[in-house]
Amino acid sequence: MFLPIPKVLKEAELRQVREALAQAKFDDGAPSAGRQARRVKRNEQLPRDSEAAKKMGGIVSGALRRHAAFISAALPYRMTEPLFNRYAPGMRYGAHIDNAIMFQTPPLRSDVSVTVFLSEPSEYDGGELVMEEIGARRKLKLAAGAALLYPSTSLHRVEPVTRGARLAAVLWVQSLVRDAEQRRLLFELDRATQAVARRTADAPELALLGKTYHNLLRMWAGA
Ligand code: NI
Repeated sequence: MFLPIPKVLKEAELRQVREALAQAKFDDGAPSAGRQARRVKRNEQLPRDSEAAKKMGGIVSGALRRHAAFISAALPYRMTEPLFNRYAPGMRYGAHIDNAIMFQTPPLRSDVSVTVFLSEPSEYDGGELVMEEIGARRKLKLAAGAALLYPSTSLHRVEPVTRGARLAAVLWVQSLVRDAEQRRLLFELDRATQAVARRTADAPELALLGKTYHNLLRMWAGA
C-alpha cells in the first residue's frame, strides 16, 4: 500500500528538526546500504549514533506513533530509528530494494518503508521518490512534514537532485500483520468504520464492525 500522510510533524517539530539538520555533520550514506544498493546510493546521512540523530529521531518516531492513520496502515510491532539523509545537487539513489532484515538487536523484518519529507518541494529540483511496479510508475514529492508509506518489497529510487537540497528521514516498520494484503484489508475496514462513526456515533453496526476488525486482527497478528 502506498499511503501519503500529510502533516505528520507539527510546525514546531519540523522547524526544530530542520534547524538541527542545518547544523549537523553528515557522512557518506553508501556504507549503510546493502551490497547491491550500495553501488547506486549517492547521498549523505547523519551518523546514527550522533546526538542530533537520536534527538531528531525521537521527534520523528513520536510524531508517527501518535498519528492514527500511520498506526492503522502500518500496524507497527517495531520500528527502526529514523535515518536522516540529504541529497545535494548530483546526488541520487538508484533503483534498489530495501534490506529485508535490519540487523539490529533483535533483528527487524522490514514490511513497511517510511519516508518523512523534511524539505519543501520548492526548495529543490529533482529528488522525486519513484516506485516501480508492473505496468505502473509513481513519482512522489510531498510537502515538508508529510510521510509516505510504501511496501518494503517495492523497487524504488530517488531521482538525482539538480538544485537545492532534499532532506528526509527514512525508517522501517515490522508490522504486527506480515501480509500486505491483510494489512490493506484491515486499514480499509478501519477507515470504513471511522466513516460510519463520524456520520452516526451511536450506529448499531459499529459494534459488529469493531468485532470483525478486532477478530481479524487477532487472527492475522503474529509479527
Ligand atoms: Ni530504499
